[in-house]
Amino acid sequence: MTDDAEETIQRKGDHVDIILNDDVQAKKNAWEDVNLLHEALPETDLDHVTTQTPLLNHPLELPVMVASMTGGYPDAEAINERLAKASAKHGVGMGVGSQRAMLEDPDQASTYTVIREHDVPFVAANIGAPQLIPQGDEDPITVDQAKQLVNAIDADALIVHLNYLQEIVQPEGDTKASGVIDAIEQLVTEIPGPVIAKETGAGMHRGTIKRLVDAGCAAVDVGGLSGTTFAAVERIRAESADSPRHVGLGDRFRDWGIPTPVAVREGATLDVNVIATGGVKNGVHVARAIALGADACGIASGALAPASEGEEALDAFFEALRSELETAMFLTGAETIGELQKRPVMVRRETAAWLRRLGHDVDALVRERIR
Ligand SMILES: Cc1cc2nc3c(=O)[nH]c(=O)nc-3n(C[C@H](O)[C@H](O)[C@H](O)COP(=O)(O)O)c2cc1C
Repeated sequence: MTDDAEETIQRKGDHVDIILNDDVQAKKNAWEDVNLLHEALPETDLDHVTTQTPLLNHPLELPVMVASMTGGYPDAEAINERLAKASAKHGVGMGVGSQRAMLEDPDQASTYTVIREHDVPFVAANIGAPQLIPQGDEDPITVDQAKQLVNAIDADALIVHLNYLQEIVQPEGDTKASGVIDAIEQLVTEIPGPVIAKETGAGMHRGTIKRLVDAGCAAVDVGGLSGTTFAAVERIRAESADSPRHVGLGDRFRDWGIPTPVAVREGATLDVNVIATGGVKNGVHVARAIALGADACGIASGALAPASEGEEALDAFFEALRSELETAMFLTGAETIGELQKRPVMVRRETAAWLRRLGHDVDALVRERIR
């Protein structure tokens, strides 16, 4: 095994351990600034509410996917197996973690390909944008390798993650970014299925989203600030690696980024499928994201915790999420996900200030939606 492969295996294990055991959540979860307006006369019945919705033409039971997390080290296989089983059972999509590890060490392939053993309704492959361009003496991932990674898990889409905040705080991080948009455009042209561009916790504004749409991305996962912050995760690793400069960067940039609800609204004003990841912990958060214009939500750390407990805990998590989402839909008089996207939604405090500064009519989200 090469040194790079060994380092990757170590890092993958560290990420899961740190996220399960340390406080690496953003200081503020901006979903708390978003409220749906109660409808005292819903004029529908709870059992008429349906949470079914398509994501890139794949029918889901809930507008949710388990966000890309893991793979590439031995213990990841059991986690991905459990997440895949639950995703199939509850009808949600699932992304695997960055698949570079299986290129570096083919022995790790089964930690990802285990997803094929379950009938997950929407499967996403995953590679990092920084690995699409030369970084020092590392060769970039080629289009053929990307196709191989998609095929290895029978993926319905390829996610390209944008994680420069994380890379900057990593002592061994990849910090070259010039040329990434051209590399994404080339992938879009040459890969048969859709490409999704995904931030990993620092969000996107509409200028970025527009460039990704112009490059041909079929969807964006706006991956905003609110939940897991990789500056905090890498800060902990930097401390173990005795790298005070990176510890300092982790501290300073811990809450850097565009809050997820703001990034969702930025995407919702453009003609693109929007996935909302970052701080989504329950069905009420999902309902808020949909009302702000998301097509689906991604849940990472919120699903990892029950997955580490066991199958029953994960089932209970998805059952509670479904019941919370259905209840929020019923209490706003929305029978479908499409109707929920038009229900009055009130954005307050700092999140409202962000939206106003970016030119959004926050009041219209309530005023013009009341029936
Ligand atoms: C253990 C773990 C590993 C992750 N690895 C990846 C990855 O390989 N690729 C990726 O696109 N995102 C990765 N992420 C980021 C998540 O997909 C998500 O964007 C982020 O955690 C914010 O969501 P959350 O607040 O629900 O945790 C990872 C997250 C966790 C918790």
